[in-house]
Amino acid sequence: MAAHPQLNRHGELRHLLSIEGLPRDVLLHIMDTAQGFMSFGEREVKKVPLLRGKSVFNLFFENSTRTRTTFEIAAQRLSADVFNLDIQRSSTSKGESLLDTIANLEAMDADIFVVRHSQSGAPFLIASHTPEHVHVVNAGDGRHAHPTQGLLDMMTIRHYKRDFHALTVAIVGDIVHSRVARSDIHALTTLGVPEVRAVGPKTLVPGDLRDMGVRVCHDIEEGLRGADVVIALRLQNERMAGGLLPSASEFHMMYGLTPERMRLAREDAIVMHPGPINRGVELDSAVADGPQSVILPQVRFGIAVRMAVLSIVANTSA
Ligand code: CP
Repeated sequence: MAAHPQLNRHGELRHLLSIEGLPRDVLLHIMDTAQGFMSFGEREVKKVPLLRGKSVFNLFFENSTRTRTTFEIAAQRLSADVFNLDIQRSSTSKGESLLDTIANLEAMDADIFVVRHSQSGAPFLIASHTPEHVHVVNAGDGRHAHPTQGLLDMMTIRHYKRDFHALTVAIVGDIVHSRVARSDIHALTTLGVPEVRAVGPKTLVPGDLRDMGVRVCHDIEEGLRGADVVIALRLQNERMAGGLLPSASEFHMMYGLTPERMRLAREDAIVMHPGPINRGVELDSAVADGPQSVILPQVRFGIAVRMAVLSIVANTSA
């Protein structure tokens, strides 16, 4: 595999596997392309023929509501043929390896694989074994990366805050297990956000995040004070070995976003969350449904971002 497995020799996006290492101009190109798709939901005819004749295979080896559905909508709006592999009923259960499954789907003329997997690195493995004309988009791998979530989060921030260069962004919660946090941090720092804070208990917010240019705050009040953007993250129990937290209610008491705590942030601060939300744990309903919440617009922006990513990679040569 080439030194940068996502880009071709002209620096164009061939696969989207991770935001880490992607140049600022590539991120901006995706976001600017997505901007052009933002109004599609309001059109009478919501389709363009950019992916006509292409086959997009959604391979979700891990559960999903938002990512899977918005990738499907995005591919359909681009006029692709979309196939959702039912992993529970697939031959994975008979012991077929991931790469053998991929080889068989390639034999069915797949053009793009959208892959979610509990194993970090699975989309990279697939990208390193596919022929040149096939593209791979990471829809979330283990605790490693969730690049389209990172990009839709950047679209949301740009939509509400316009400029990245004077912002304070606080990411609050279970950061150590979060692929979203990692993708957001890479995107925010690449786009020039001067202060990115990681806020939570020592067991969930490791000190080595400082090496990524992040300010680590174990005190919630310090973390929220003066923030322009607050990104809440759920406790990712499915990736926790146990013993990292006394209880969910204790976490809420110490770090949950409440209307009182949100008053520490700027008056015009926005509240984001990648979903699924756990009400009464990482945030109260009054915050999730309150005037500062942009959680549902994030989901809508995800369609435009995924349309952009699919249309860009599909038109990038090896
Ligand atoms: N944000 C996100 O990845 O949600 P899903 O798990 O529902 O796709």
